Amino acid sequence: MPRPSDELDRYDLTCQRLREALLGQLPASVDLAATVTAHAYWACVAVSRDGTDWEQALRDYTILAQQQAVAESEAERREIALLRRELAQTRGPVLDVGAGWGRLVPLYAGLNRPAVYVEPATLGVQLMRRSGLNRVVQSGGETLPLADSAFAVAVIGWVLHHHAAPDVDAPAILAQAARVLAPGGQLLSIEPLGENFCQTEWTSLLSEAGFHINRVEWFFTSEPASGKTERYTLAVGTRGVD
Ligand SMILES: C[S@@+](CC[C@H](N)C(=O)[O-])C[C@H]1O[C@@H](n2cnc3c(N)ncnc32)[C@H](O)[C@@H]1O
Repeated sequence: MPRPSDELDRYDLTCQRLREALLGQLPASVDLAATVTAHAYWACVAVSRDGTDWEQALRDYTILAQQQAVAESEAERREIALLRRELAQTRGPVLDVGAGWGRLVPLYAGLNRPAVYVEPATLGVQLMRRSGLNRVVQSGGETLPLADSAFAVAVIGWVLHHHAAPDVDAPAILAQAARVLAPGGQLLSIEPLGENFCQTEWTSLLSEAGFHINRVEWFFTSEPASGKTERYTLAVGTRGVD
């Protein structure tokens, strides 16, 4: 099997191979397309960012999908319900920082909310643009090329817990989110809390960036085969008034 070199070609082939491996293996409650998309993205990020061998990444993420798709699908259902509830209480365009492949696009579209998607990874940006989105900005959250006070709501999901990685400066990302949010604007932050990232660390980061934390809400506990339990949690913060 030839190994594709272009990121989009590699992603498409990864999707195809994952779909073949998972077809008929998952219960009807699981959205096969969503499972394939997510695991193909993560597998390709492992190849391009970490230098993982593509066949190896494909094997690893096929096994992960087989083991975790049911739990992940339920976690996502609860996450989307919470985000929908919170977004319904806000107005105006949404800023999604670290938007990945655009997983939340259907949520914003369903609420009739325009959104700006910020994502540093070329694959994520290419996938969002290929799906027809035009407000996609290729950037890390640390340097948002967006005007001050331009948004009333920002979503940062599953990004800050990577704060130990050299390419994720969580205080800088949050400082930028605070800058582009209008005073009183809402931050919806979703992270998995566990051994590597605890609630105190998270809420301190939010407070230090000037957010008043209104609510911290657990919505799912993951129990992966690795044994590292994580509590998937939403924090709702309000950007303080200058
Ligand atoms: C686990 S994915 C989550 C994607 C999306 N937020 C979601 O909920 O589906 C984390 C994303 O954060 C992006 N990311 C990595 N470093 C970042 C940074 N410094 N600023 C913003 N996003 C970053 C990654 O490229 C990846 O797409």
